[in-house]
Amino acid sequence: MTINMEQQKRYGHFDDQHREYVITDPQTPWPWINYLGNEDFFSLISNTAGGYSFYKDAKFRRITRYRYNNVPMDNGGRYFYLKDGDTVWNPGWKPCKTPLDFYECRHGMGYTRITGRKNQVEASVLFFVPLKKWGEVQKVTLKNLSQEPKQLKLFSFEEWCLWNAATDMENFQRNFSTGEVEIEGSTIYHKTEYRERRNHYAFYHVNTEIQGYDTDRETFVGLYNEFADPQAVIEGRPRNSHAHGWSPVASHYIEVTLQPGEQKDFVFLLGYIENAQDEKFEAPQVINKKKAHALIASLDTTEKVDQAFAELSAYWDDLLSIYKVKTGNDKLDRMVNIWNQYQCMVTFNFSRSASFFESGVGRGMGFRDSNQDLVGFVHQIPPRARQRIIDIASTQFPDGGCYHQYQPLTKRGNNDIGGGFNDDPCWLIFGTVAYIKETGDFSILDEMVPFDNQPGTEVTLFEHLKVSMDHVLNNLGPHKLPLIGRADWNDCLNLNCFSMDPNESFQTTENKSEGSKAESLMIAGLFVVTGKDYVALCKQIGKDDEARRMQQAVDAMTEAVKKDGWDGEWYLRAYDFFGGKIGSKECDEAKIFIESQGWCTMAEIGAEEGMVAKSLDATKKYLECEHGIVLNNPAFSKFVYEYGEISSYPEGYKENAGIFCHNNPWVIIGECLAGRGNDAWSHYAKILPSYVEEKYQTLHKVEPYVNCQMVAGKDAARPGEGKNSWLTGTAAWMWYTVSEFILGIKPDYEGLRIDPCLPETAKDYTVSRKFREADYEITVHPNGHQKGVRQIVLDGQPIEGSVVPYAPGKHTVDVTM
Ligand code: GLC
Ligand code: GLC
Repeated sequence: MTINMEQQKRYGHFDDQHREYVITDPQTPWPWINYLGNEDFFSLISNTAGGYSFYKDAKFRRITRYRYNNVPMDNGGRYFYLKDGDTVWNPGWKPCKTPLDFYECRHGMGYTRITGRKNQVEASVLFFVPLKKWGEVQKVTLKNLSQEPKQLKLFSFEEWCLWNAATDMENFQRNFSTGEVEIEGSTIYHKTEYRERRNHYAFYHVNTEIQGYDTDRETFVGLYNEFADPQAVIEGRPRNSHAHGWSPVASHYIEVTLQPGEQKDFVFLLGYIENAQDEKFEAPQVINKKKAHALIASLDTTEKVDQAFAELSAYWDDLLSIYKVKTGNDKLDRMVNIWNQYQCMVTFNFSRSASFFESGVGRGMGFRDSNQDLVGFVHQIPPRARQRIIDIASTQFPDGGCYHQYQPLTKRGNNDIGGGFNDDPCWLIFGTVAYIKETGDFSILDEMVPFDNQPGTEVTLFEHLKVSMDHVLNNLGPHKLPLIGRADWNDCLNLNCFSMDPNESFQTTENKSEGSKAESLMIAGLFVVTGKDYVALCKQIGKDDEARRMQQAVDAMTEAVKKDGWDGEWYLRAYDFFGGKIGSKECDEAKIFIESQGWCTMAEIGAEEGMVAKSLDATKKYLECEHGIVLNNPAFSKFVYEYGEISSYPEGYKENAGIFCHNNPWVIIGECLAGRGNDAWSHYAKILPSYVEEKYQTLHKVEPYVNCQMVAGKDAARPGEGKNSWLTGTAAWMWYTVSEFILGIKPDYEGLRIDPCLPETAKDYTVSRKFREADYEITVHPNGHQKGVRQIVLDGQPIEGSVVPYAPGKHTVDVTM
């Protein structure tokens, strides 16, 4: 494909020293966003300050409102309006879109700083959620760059969401009559529904005296105006309106005088409070503000805010010091050391719930997704990963099946979606093993964990792992391969669905299942990979009989794949309901799929017979393109009723031959295990954001500092166009791949296993790895080799084998390939 000038346009660049991506043009090809918050209070923020905030759950506890998929794009956010004479402008350009003399947005680790300049006034806003606080700080710094005094009018703006983001969007006959606020000094309280069952409210505060405010949306904006020209701002005159019913908002009005060169800070705080039932009110109708006052007092000066910001920065210094690489290749180092790890934290926190592609109302935490996300996160804060494993396992059923999703607020399985995704159970092993290898904490296996959150059903976590493995074995089909159920990893391969009703969900509908012969080679590979892990775990804890039992099952599965899962040049994808082959040279379309090539090569099934090498070659030949590896080929050109959702997508998108970045790493790991470092690297670099950033900012569209779920494949109208950024298993899989298989530092029960797989051009590199109570400084000398460790020297002494035994303290490790 030829790249024209328009496609070479750049909108920003990396600033590695500050761990920031710097956006220099507000008109990015799509909103480029960031996430604020670490544990309970979260915000999404775009490069023009669009987005919203919520407490724990983007559906049930939404604090501010957002308009998805709107015209104009990215509508609604925390907006600051500056009125300077007749000119009204925003530091983030939107919503007024007044041309700025300077614009910059710096997305960093848990913060975003947006700076605009207009007519010699600079406005810079730092947005972040302080550690352990339930609120978003917005520190506004105004500076007069001119030689004359400036009289400015500053208006803030937030729009309250009526808590449940789903009903907020649809139940207007009620919503227009529930809004309630209180105003106290410079604080606007959103107490809608607090009079009834809610014991929470939100507030918006500024640490200075205000000269007016508004809380009724139509009064502030004007019924036929827009965010771009709110009536109160245009006239420079707030109305001191009180929302009662209708749509409550919060806007402060501040008159600011700045002498030449003078600078002033204003600290705004969007906060969230919960009160005990019997402490809700301080007087009839008057909400108890004690906790709000305390939260405000903790962040009401520039000094306190700067201190909180320094703590956030130190927190990230710590997290990012656990695995640090120095290769001399900036594009690799910045992804490994900064952005990939950052994205892993975000996906761990949000699963697939809230992004600019996920509304936050549709999906909770995925069983499979969350186990995968763990693997990208577990080295950072193991105790949180531990809790997550217990939460996930608690939604499992006694037979090992599980809810496909659960809600983060209630931690209950989501009944609307239900279960029946037959790959799900295996992922619990994947997540748990990663946790134990990282921490050495076997005690998690003894935790008592219920089924379906029912008290009295508790068994040990180990028992949950056992029923997970058994769930696969109890659901085998005619070829002794795993039955697929509603779907496996590919949510869109719905082989028992048989739906012709567009109002039915492909994923939750099973119109046929009795007598189904639908089997999955993806689950077969996954079972072998996680089964080997399970066997090794059993041996570690002295469960030798169980290890033997499962080894036999793994061997049997391996044989079944070789016998009935091999198509001659690659692994089949599945058998359909009737027992017909999917992903075979005999098929008209979709002759080959990536998932089974990835999992069966990771499982090294048939390596000795040459299957692995053939499969990897076929993947290169049929599935690889300029922008990555597509999911299947040829794409489905028409809807295949028997296969469900997969062919509902036009060619080249999503599960129909899109580059589903999530599963590219499976092939890369397969390549690494096979020792093919050049191929592994070339697949990896194709979807590594920093490489894409350099070449394709316009074409790629979405944020160049993180991976997206899907890049349009070779059959699409615009191959290379990205969609669904941020919340994707790609983050964890890219991290797992580069940290453990390419750079080759792999936590294991006894220590760190060192086994890199590199392109032959790789130079010497160093990884600093904190592991349990130890610090390892590992230098690798590839010497032109793609794979194979010749010698490891630990603290000056050569050791046998490739595992550096764990011992607390500081160590140097020298690795010669
Ligand atoms: C989405 C889902 C994930 C699924 C994948 C493939 O990324 O979050 O669970 O495996 O799509 O369908
Ligand atoms: C759709 C998407 C798939 C996603 C699923 C989640 O099927 O294509 O990628 O995993 O929805 O519900």
